[in-house]
Amino acid sequence: MEQQKLLELLHSLTIEEKIGQLLQLSGDFFTTTDAVTGPAANLGIGEDDVYRCGSVLSTIGAEKTKEMQDMFLAKNKKIPMMFMADIINGYRTVFPIPLAQGATFNPELSKEGASIAAKEAAASGIHVTFSPMADMVRDGRWGRVMESTGEDIYLNSCFAEKMVEGYQGDDIGKKGNIAACLKHFAGYGGAVAGRDYNEVELSERTLREDYLPAYEAAIKAGVKLVMTSFNTLDRIPSSANKKLMRNILRDEMGFEDVLISDYAAINEIIDHQVAENRAQAAKLAIEAGVDIDMMTACYVSELKNLVAEGGISESLIDEAALRVLELKNELGLFENPYKDASVEDEKKLLLCPKHREASRRAAEESFVLLKNEEHILPLKKEEKVAFIGPFCEEKGLLGFWTFFSDRADTITVREGVESYLGEQKDHVSFVNGASLPILGEDWTGKLLDVKEAVEAAKNADKVVLLLGEKEDAMGEGASKLNTRIPAAQKELFDAVTSITEQVILVVFSGRPFVLTLEEPKTKAILEAWMPGTDGGSALANVLYGEISPSGKLSMSFPWDEGQLPYNYNHPRTARPHRDYVPYNRFQSHYVDGPNEPLYPFGFGLSYTTFHYSPITLDKNVLTKNDGDMITASVTVKNTGDVAGKEVVQLYLHDVFASVTHPVRSLKGFEKILLQPGEEKTVQFQIKEDMLRLWNIGMEHVSEPGAFELWIGGDSLTDNRAEFTLV
Ligand code: GLC
Repeated sequence: MEQQKLLELLHSLTIEEKIGQLLQLSGDFFTTTDAVTGPAANLGIGEDDVYRCGSVLSTIGAEKTKEMQDMFLAKNKKIPMMFMADIINGYRTVFPIPLAQGATFNPELSKEGASIAAKEAAASGIHVTFSPMADMVRDGRWGRVMESTGEDIYLNSCFAEKMVEGYQGDDIGKKGNIAACLKHFAGYGGAVAGRDYNEVELSERTLREDYLPAYEAAIKAGVKLVMTSFNTLDRIPSSANKKLMRNILRDEMGFEDVLISDYAAINEIIDHQVAENRAQAAKLAIEAGVDIDMMTACYVSELKNLVAEGGISESLIDEAALRVLELKNELGLFENPYKDASVEDEKKLLLCPKHREASRRAAEESFVLLKNEEHILPLKKEEKVAFIGPFCEEKGLLGFWTFFSDRADTITVREGVESYLGEQKDHVSFVNGASLPILGEDWTGKLLDVKEAVEAAKNADKVVLLLGEKEDAMGEGASKLNTRIPAAQKELFDAVTSITEQVILVVFSGRPFVLTLEEPKTKAILEAWMPGTDGGSALANVLYGEISPSGKLSMSFPWDEGQLPYNYNHPRTARPHRDYVPYNRFQSHYVDGPNEPLYPFGFGLSYTTFHYSPITLDKNVLTKNDGDMITASVTVKNTGDVAGKEVVQLYLHDVFASVTHPVRSLKGFEKILLQPGEEKTVQFQIKEDMLRLWNIGMEHVSEPGAFELWIGGDSLTDNRAEFTLV
């Protein structure tokens, strides 16, 4: 529809109809036979409100969404419904959780995954996904780290951009594309003490330096929606934060499309005790520029009166309603309210071999090999291997946000290994040995038949322990004080490692675990995260060496929870930790443990080894002139006897600046495949805009002076060079 027609439509609407476009309800409001006495009554809205609402949350399925659209348009006639859902790491074909995708250091894989998720979801009648989650995270106690791509600003920016491109393509109106929604704006990942929904305390400089860039990258990529966050910033609830939403998001970042609240977040302004009632909450939110009220009655019950009483201008409602209508128009819903919903396409696309193969490839590239002594990995087909632990046959390898998939589709570890081994599968045994904790019932899980596990271990050449946290023990509302292997599994671990040293530990988790106690008793450790639908096949391929692991940690693995929050790109402090001789207590350190994590950001081993040449620079002085750059080169050689992929990482450091700043920050990476003996020169262009920071005057500028750079295989690399910015 032409913009002019859209404006005419807007002006033809009653104020109730305009406000209706700002309401999002879940599908059960429409399937309840008597909507008024069902959820609607609980929410305090009437049937008219229900059939004026602008969008629906979490209703999926081609048939279902078409039926609901028909029912809705029979009553509403003018404006079709928009269907939105959380498609975080895949729709029916599930990919590794985003934290694992970050560990691939391969954003193109995530673009492919997002594109596949969009095709599947679009066929099922979905128009918008509440993804990418671009919250930067530094605290594994927070259950939602699994939904992010990790602790690094630049890495998160690359993934946020590519996920938006994958979901939206070049036009959200085209078949197989859906609108993406960036979340949660802003700073949600900084929850104090890692406790979900807790306050976030950030200076403006830290907010701008560390937390906003990834959101900015998604906006530059053209993301069509942004979702407000539950948290407060500067003690202001985000959904009521005019400075954050109008000045920063819209004016500074140039975001002009739909801003949707998180679930009930507008009403929760009351729970924050910043509004006394729904009228005040509605006023604060609409003035902050929040367009859609997800699942509360604040807007529908209060905005009309606020206009009538002169509390707000009707123009605020018009601008919000127009943004919603423009999004529907861009999706083509006025011409075709069903968009891509098609039962035939569902049958063709959902879980098709091409999609499963893509999810398996992503899983293989997400695994991070943290230790591999005596080349205990890869396994050999002829070896006798005992697989022990609750993840032997666990179908829950999908992560928390996978409500639209079917766990029956999952390839378990046992299925993957046995299928890989074929006739040689009698060389392996599988024993659960312990159960996974049941949320809210038993935090530790239960020890099962340890004798059977120990017996299996005794009769094997090697043991692969498959331990970790259940998929519902991560995600929203799953903050933990203890981020270790659950107690019953730890007992199983101790029993097995007391009778053999040939132990490989595979960890399934949605967060960095503290593995300090397990590390000394293992020969190898592999972080498998939540690998998705074909996780078992992917793991078999990597464990048996069909493909070498190539993942690198997207989050540091702490030595102890006491170090949290932790991030590698921290400022130096005036008393950096040194192993003084004689010991000096007056330094920034812990008297009972190290400052450093057990495994650092960017770290991950391969089945082969790589050698880095010293860095060469084509010059040592960089100017601010347009186009000026320094080219830094290294030659990387595969010095082992199997092929492998390596993530070559570039880190920069501003030696002196007008404010304190990270000891080093990732500013570039390239993932390369090298055959045995093969070498490749990797180049990075260093430009002035990569050196900018928020200076003492709160300007985003670079400051002349000395800089150092490192290029290597993780954030601890000492392969160093230096240059000067003039
Ligand atoms: C949840 C989450 C948000 C999600 C929304 C809709 O509370 O915070 O990430 O998109 O509600 O399900």
